[in-house]
Amino acid sequence: MPQIVDPDIERYAAEHTSPEPPELEAVAAETQEQFAGRAGMLTGHLEGAFLRAVVAMTGARRVLEIGMFTGYSAMAMASALPDDGRLVTLEVSEEHAALARRHIEASPWADRIEVLMGPAIESLARLDGPFDVVFIDADKTNYRNYYDAVLPKLSKRGVILIDNVLWSGRVLDASATDDDTRAIVELNDVIVADDRVEVVLLPIRDGVSLIRRR
Ligand SMILES: C[S@@+](CC[C@H](N)C(=O)[O-])C[C@H]1O[C@@H](n2cnc3c(N)ncnc32)[C@H](O)[C@@H]1O
Repeated sequence: MPQIVDPDIERYAAEHTSPEPPELEAVAAETQEQFAGRAGMLTGHLEGAFLRAVVAMTGARRVLEIGMFTGYSAMAMASALPDDGRLVTLEVSEEHAALARRHIEASPWADRIEVLMGPAIESLARLDGPFDVVFIDADKTNYRNYYDAVLPKLSKRGVILIDNVLWSGRVLDASATDDDTRAIVELNDVIVADDRVEVVLLPIRDGVSLIRRR
């Protein structure tokens, strides 16, 4: 994935962010080994630390993740939950989930994490809120569907985080016609005009929108 933040700045930011817990280092390393071509999907140290901070600062007890991959962000967020907190994560790929499950089971946060397999839109229809934090990070063409489905399930002071909202900078390319870029551009436009919410689009890694209900 092309980096949009200057790599030296990215490195400096990571070096001045609290260190990655060993469990997250381990899952990131094995993801790099097993899924080298897909490892760019990992949120990684800096964004993982940001997600963890949001969960901690909001005092979240129920977290929903759409798009688990190998479990990095699920574990990062679950590590900030209280002991009786719960994180539900949605994933469609058994291959990704197999690696995730091993690392989740070996972590101190296994009791807090529930993995739901299947297309996220179907799992979402069966899930009741309220959720305090929702992290959307799956197939981009369904982002709008996920946003519409989770907003009514948000707790009163809940927040939605959406990943890849700068899409390697392609959101600036007015001639980009691929489905993923169009979906992200359209959703960013919808959210900023949605008077039910307040949003801040942060240029962390590939862009993260932080959304709260008004
Ligand atoms: C960008 S990765 C998630 C990265 C993860 N949050 C992390 O930080 O490591 C997107 C994941 O969404 C999954 N996915 C794609 N389409 C999906 C769908 N329709 N339902 C559920 N999961 C889906 C993919 O298999 C992939 O594992």
